[in-house]
Amino acid sequence: MEQNNNVSDATIVITIDGPAGAGKSTVARLLAARLGFEFLDTGAMYRCVTLAALRAGIPLEDSQRVAELAEGLQIELDGDRVLLNGEDVSAEIRLPEVSANIGKIADNLAVRRHLTQLQRRWAQGKRVVTEGRDQGTEVFPDAACKFFLTASRQERARRRHRELLSRGIEITFEEVLEQQDRRDREDAARPIGALRPAPDAIQVDTDGHTLEEVTEILVRHVRQKLSQLDPDQPQPRQDRPTPPGQEDGA
Ligand code: DC
Repeated sequence: MEQNNNVSDATIVITIDGPAGAGKSTVARLLAARLGFEFLDTGAMYRCVTLAALRAGIPLEDSQRVAELAEGLQIELDGDRVLLNGEDVSAEIRLPEVSANIGKIADNLAVRRHLTQLQRRWAQGKRVVTEGRDQGTEVFPDAACKFFLTASRQERARRRHRELLSRGIEITFEEVLEQQDRRDREDAARPIGALRPAPDAIQVDTDGHTLEEVTEILVRHVRQKLSQLDPDQPQPRQDRPTPPGQEDGA
């Protein structure tokens, strides 16, 4: 696939990939806030297409109809708000029904191509932290700094379970684990956009760390990487002091 990866000089992309529940989305948000960067949740785009296809009653296996539908959608990401054709679907796209059906949408190559273009266009001219499965491998292979977050299967399911309960979604731990295992298998088996670390990604295991600690580790890597790339480049804002004892990374 030809990469349309021409980004303007002002663009700085930091990618965070990893499996569901590794803490990517929280860490990506925190990192973006720390650096004064924008945050791009690419999973939300796949979720919007899934929701729209479910609502339209299109069989999710019908890749052509789903792709046509996807190309006609207006997806806007504004901070934590996700708008689908102008409607706020931020909560609805996280429902278990959407998660359970997203695999077929993420397997759809035409949908992936379309969303990849949207993601590159979204990042154009911006300083962004982007989060997903294929950001460092397929979408932004030339990103300034790439991370791959991992965590144990149990820890990831525990985090996800807590998060769903806190949103009032009733689900057992075993159900979360089962859904997670299925998505892991699907994410790993995908011929394009499969979950895998980019060769130049920094891998960070989040087990045993708070997500704030993980963010701190990433901030340090980013600052080091950006100063190596261009010593004259203005450094990202650091709006909180480094906690004592964490000056040397983890
Ligand atoms: O990050 P998330 O749980 O919201 O992502 C939901 C699904 O979307 C995930 O199981 C796979 C798919 N996805 C993808 O294929 N590529 C991305 N860049 C982001 C998400």
